[in-house]
Amino acid sequence: MTDLLSKFDPLIQERETLLATGVKDPFSLVMEEVLSPTVAICEGRETILLGTYNYMGMTFDDDVRQAGMKALEEFGSGTTGSRVLNGTYSLHRDCEDALKEFYDMDHAMVFSTGYQANLGIISTLAGKGDYVILDIDSHASIYDGCAMGNAEIVAFRHNDVEALEKRLKRLPPEAGKLVVLEGVYSMLGDVAPLKEMVRVCKENGAMVLVDEAHSMGFIGENGRGVCEAQGVIDDVDFIIGTFSKSVGTVGGFCVSNHPKFEILRLVCRPYVFTASLPPSVMATAGTSIRKLMHSGNKRAHLWENSKKLHKGLRDLGFTLGTPEAQSAIIAVIMPDLEKGAMMWQALLAEGLYVNLARPPATPANMTLLRCSLCAEHTSEQVDQILGMFEAAGKAVGAI
Ligand SMILES: Cc1ncc(COP(=O)(O)O)c(C=O)c1O
Repeated sequence: MTDLLSKFDPLIQERETLLATGVKDPFSLVMEEVLSPTVAICEGRETILLGTYNYMGMTFDDDVRQAGMKALEEFGSGTTGSRVLNGTYSLHRDCEDALKEFYDMDHAMVFSTGYQANLGIISTLAGKGDYVILDIDSHASIYDGCAMGNAEIVAFRHNDVEALEKRLKRLPPEAGKLVVLEGVYSMLGDVAPLKEMVRVCKENGAMVLVDEAHSMGFIGENGRGVCEAQGVIDDVDFIIGTFSKSVGTVGGFCVSNHPKFEILRLVCRPYVFTASLPPSVMATAGTSIRKLMHSGNKRAHLWENSKKLHKGLRDLGFTLGTPEAQSAIIAVIMPDLEKGAMMWQALLAEGLYVNLARPPATPANMTLLRCSLCAEHTSEQVDQILGMFEAAGKAVGAI
């Protein structure tokens, strides 16, 4: 018998070598209690959270929690069915209405996760004989959507408008083309030049899908994302997003003004062949989305925090993923996995949690300490965080 798990031996070996150096496993941390969007108890001590996607701090919002509890009482714990059978409750429709209002668009379709939204929409739109043109640093769910749909994948260099244009011009003019972009790229926290890219797509007859997972709620005057901030929201064909970041719960969605959009509900397999989200999740998501429409002050505070952390870390001598803060993600580049894991552990010992990210999730084989800020972090917490980075950085020789 061939052991089908033996293909993972190199990864098992790498992990064992790392743990043998004495560092803890950075991928198995348990949060014993969560006290607020910015503080949890980890390993028995209060820890500042700087590695969640809770950008707008909605997880503990009173209205959001009450809406969830009310729905749990009134509708029960789950739907036990697909959206196209017994799994559409009034709350699913209400959540889709909230999305339509939020984006000022005609159609909204809610999926069970953002991963499934990309998987479903990309694979349903682009099939055999069509082309998906994507940034090489695209999220795994985008690549998986392409693989499921069987379209030809054409990747271009990260955020490179000229490379995108060149690829588009080489494709058969009559072929179906879907360009998939992200507003914010989650590993380095950098923003796409959507204005130029969308123009190039339109000039070359391609439809455009933008994944705004890390920008919804925060970027743009109304929190609609990078498409809004760069003035192209009316030119993109589809926006994908998630409820697992700024919205503060779980779920995914696609919004669009395309007149034929509703047919996707019947042909999109990751929408049809899975159970719909529980009513409590729909109620929390709908309430959170409506509150995010009027969260200008929180957005301004999150920008202040992001800029302050970026400047502070740069001044301490860390190498960062972007020259200035472009989003709420500030990525600290580590020389290698061992040093990254040591720094991660030293920060945890100081009382700070960040995300350790490593290849293949990261671009160019980088090891990153990804810091993601929350609108609920106080300015004093950002000062504390910088103090912790200084102490940990000196202790492990990273600065
Ligand atoms: C760009 C991007 N798209 C989609 C997803 C998937 O979102 P979800 O957590 O809702 O599955 C993520 C999650 O990390 C993401 O970063």
